[in-house]
This record gives sequence, C-alpha cells and structure tokens, in this order.
Amino acid sequence: MEKIYITYNQIHDTIKDLAEEVKKSGFDPDLMVAIGTGGFIPARMAKTFLNKPILTVGIAYYDLDDRLADSPVITQWVDQPEKQIRGKKILLVDEVDDTRATIGFCLDELQKHEPAEIAVLVIHNKNKEKKHPIPSYIKHYFVGQSFKDPWICYPWDAEDTAEQDQMALKG
Ligand code: G4P
Ligand code: MG
Repeated sequence: MEKIYITYNQIHDTIKDLAEEVKKSGFDPDLMVAIGTGGFIPARMAKTFLNKPILTVGIAYYDLDDRLADSPVITQWVDQPEKQIRGKKILLVDEVDDTRATIGFCLDELQKHEPAEIAVLVIHNKNKEKKHPIPSYIKHYFVGQSFKDPWICYPWDAEDTAEQDQMALKG
C-alpha cells in the first residue's frame, strides 16, 4: 500500500487554509467536537485560528473484551448534550475521512441532540467507497486534501519527528 508521510507543519498550513475557508463560508461554529484520538491535535490547531472551545468524543469498534463489536461503541461522549449540543452550531473535526464509518456514526449521534447545524472539517479525505453517505443536513464539509487510498502516516504516530520530516520531503 502506498504510504504518504505528513509533517506537523504541513498539517498546520492545511488547517490554516481550512479555517480561512470556514470563515469565508459564513458558518460560525459555537464549538468544535473532536473525534479521538486522530481529531484531537487537528482540533487544537484549528483553535488557534477559529478560537472556539473543543469538546471531545471517543468511538471504538471493539468491546471491553477486545472483540470486534457489531456497531460502533461510544467510549466517551459530551456531558449534558441538551445544554452543550442542542441549538448549537458544531464543527466536527477529525484527521481523516476514510470509510466514514466513525464520522458518520458521530454525525448521527450528534444530530439526535438537535444542534442548530453541524459542519465537518477533516484534514484528509480518501476518494473511495464509503460506509456512510454525507447526511443531507450537512451543508459544509471542509476537506484539506484528498487522496485515492494511501495509508497516511501522521506525525503524532511517529517516534522520531526528524525522520518523519525527511520521509515527507522524499515523498
Ligand atoms: P472515518 O469515519 O474517519 O473514515 O474512520 P474509519 O472508521 O474509516 O477509520 C478507522 C480508524 O482508522 C480511525 O482511527 C481512522 O483515524 C484510522 N485511519 C484511517 N485511515 C488512516 C490513515 O490513512 N492513516 C492513519 N494513521 N489512520 C487512519 P480511530 O479508530 O478513530 O483511532 P485513532 O487513531 O483516531 O485513535
Ligand atoms: Mg480517528
């Protein structure tokens, strides 16, 4: 499988551009919801430009006995969603839209709490068959960069960031 190495600086620049796009779109989020763990660092980087609070959620595909679950399992969710989500404009942040299973599940769960609007921001999208359509209630889907279907190596997974930068340069 093709591998693509990405540096922190590249992600910072992509998010800076995405934040500009968000501002130009007229969608002014009340808060971000970051999907862990891949969405944590991107959401924090986006906060530098958008200056919105971040809530975090966790989704797993394994149950407590480490068996593959039939459907996604919520491992962390928003406290008092009737206060924090209902009527709010939410920017859902993740690092990559791959099969969209996780993002799609989160969107459906958030939508149950009747937000005013949800938009999505991902650094990368893979142009491949998806397990979940983009729901019709999503008006804004902000994507930094699209690839066919490589394995993307993120800098937060690297133990040596200098090596990561070199691999990205070679790419
Ligand atoms: P999606 O809704 O974001 O498309 O997620 P999907 O369920 O398809 O992805 C399953 C997991 O695989 C997710 O991690 C996602 O971040 C990760 N993933 C998919 N493609 C890549 C890739 O090219 N590179 C890397 N590094 N990860 C990828 P997760 O279960 O949410 O775990 P976490 O890593 O975010 O903690
Ligand atoms: Mg993830």
